[in-house]
Amino acid sequence: MNTANATLLLCLLAAGSIAAAGEAPEPPQAVAGCSACHLKEGIPAQPGWPFLAGMAKADIVERLRGHRARLIPDSTMSKVAAGLSDDEIEQAADYYSRLEPSNPPPVLLKKPAQQPPAQ
Ligand code: HEC
Repeated sequence: MNTANATLLLCLLAAGSIAAAGEAPEPPQAVAGCSACHLKEGIPAQPGWPFLAGMAKADIVERLRGHRARLIPDSTMSKVAAGLSDDEIEQAADYYSRLEPSNPPPVLLKKPAQQPPAQ
């Protein structure tokens, strides 16, 4: 393990004790482009998009291959998956399937409804 990895590990351990997130795996390079939409925690950036955290690895692989094969031609994921190799699909599926499904809770990026001003 090099120094950068050791430092990152220490940061993860420290963060884990604060957030009680525990031993979250380190995201591989293959998921760097996924986190804008699925966050690195595997929770959706937009309500209605799928949760990946804890999804079965075989399901993730199958779905990504399906999107890559354009079974759903104009899906968002068909465009993303077009650029993925088998190896990247494998790594991403392995990573997301190992995340705790319920931790952390979903983040909704919508602003809460405005409260009427107090009289
Ligand atoms: C631009 C936003 C965006 C990016 C980037 C993105 N996704 Fe998605 N992903 C979506 C949306 C939206 C869906 C819902 C299905 C659809 O519309 O294509 C989805 C669905 C999925 C699904 C479930 C597929 C299904 O049909 O149920 C998996 C698995 C997935 N994404 C994995 C990934 C991985 C792995 C990456 C990175 C390599 C990634 N996504 C990058 C937006 C994104």
